[in-house]
Amino acid sequence: LNSLRQEFERLTLEIIGLAGKRTNLVEEIAVEKIQRGLTLVNREVERNLRIKVVEQCVKNDQNPEFALRLVNQLIMESISKQESHFEKQEFVSAYDIFVKANNMEREGREVIHLEVGEPDFGPPVAVAESLTKAVVKGHGGYTQSSGILALRQKIVEYVNQKHDQNITADQVIITVGGRFAIYLSLVTSLRPGDEVIVIDPSYPAYSDCIKQAGGRPVHITTQLADKWNLNLNQLEESINQTTKMIILNSPNSPSGKTLDDSTLEKIAELSLENDIRIVSDEVYSEFSLEPHVSILQFPCNQIYVNSFSKTFGMTGFRLGYAISDAETIQKITKLQNISLTCVPEFIQYAGITALDCLNEAEGYVNEIKIRQAAVSKRLESLPVSFYRPDGGFYLFPRLNNETTNGSEFAERLLMERRIAVVPGTAYGKQFSQFFRISVCQPVERLMESVNRMEEILE
Ligand SMILES: Cc1ncc(COP(=O)(O)O)c(C=O)c1O
Repeated sequence: LNSLRQEFERLTLEIIGLAGKRTNLVEEIAVEKIQRGLTLVNREVERNLRIKVVEQCVKNDQNPEFALRLVNQLIMESISKQESHFEKQEFVSAYDIFVKANNMEREGREVIHLEVGEPDFGPPVAVAESLTKAVVKGHGGYTQSSGILALRQKIVEYVNQKHDQNITADQVIITVGGRFAIYLSLVTSLRPGDEVIVIDPSYPAYSDCIKQAGGRPVHITTQLADKWNLNLNQLEESINQTTKMIILNSPNSPSGKTLDDSTLEKIAELSLENDIRIVSDEVYSEFSLEPHVSILQFPCNQIYVNSFSKTFGMTGFRLGYAISDAETIQKITKLQNISLTCVPEFIQYAGITALDCLNEAEGYVNEIKIRQAAVSKRLESLPVSFYRPDGGFYLFPRLNNETTNGSEFAERLLMERRIAVVPGTAYGKQFSQFFRISVCQPVERLMESVNRMEEILE
């Protein structure tokens, strides 16, 4: 054992020494890249490296799986070292703007909030009543970590009917909002060095959660000029042996784009061929102009995420859910159990009532559609370009004037006209000319806001 341990130690020190030499090279490469005006990441160089790693593994009769993950971890380390040499891009999130706007309000200045994705109509009255009743009745204890059976069964009925499925209650977990469902799904599925494809523009939490899990977000982008259509060839080209997940968001925040049947079918096929799991964030599903198509309708390895926040105006209730195969749900449940035990029981009871209020929710959805159409029409007379959304409750215009950008515009709009919007870079650094508007305000306030935008853009 002693001699084996000595050899073990020698090899470990050798690896550490080599990693140090590699890091020194990384710094030199960064300087060269900047001098030559090259980008920080070069996927072609990485691809060639992976080919060589696999060849060596095959020659040495070594499983390439671990080696490739290790290579990705080294690449991630190199990128973070090199990043400091490149110009840092300013990044302002919806939350940053929200806090700034709140501070202005505390100073007595009124702000119109078009930054947060929070329905202004609040939950149906029956939901509030059932929450109080649940507390009075003593439903304030711990529950199963996956959530109370009655709510899971209610979700099963709703989803099975909507998407013609045969899901069972053991395939559902109730989570603290859709956001935590996303976090749990990624953290339980990923290992350090795994790659996850994220389609930009994207909800920033995806990238953050992937990194939190030690994974590597690989961003592919859609373009306004292509009507935000996903280029399936680009998606396919981004897949390699370390790709473990693809995150979908339809309808998309911020672009309002939905993924149609044939695109979802192709993505599902690609995921099966390459043994990739799909996380499908469908929190805006009820806000689709056309009947919503879900990933659930396509055979593939998937985790479906939805929430009560948007459909029922229940953002502060923090109630969401995930659906997958029973084994995956068990794994996710274990992490929920470790981290926060369960969603408060009375809130889960309110969720049962919410699902009985779908008619009321439909009223909210129709109101959002009317607002989106009104803002779209009004925006046409402003110097911006945008796609008329297929769903969701945002608009994502691009400023035609290249002498300013989304961040400057958002800053001026807030400081000079007291309207809060989110700069496009929150959803991908390439969207510096864009800004996001949420239509979660009455139509008159929305129209007043666009008038003030026009004043700034004149
Ligand atoms: C795309 C997307 N997914 C998920 C969420 C999470 O919502 P919640 O955690 O309130 O359910 C949001 C919230 O803004 C979102 O925009």
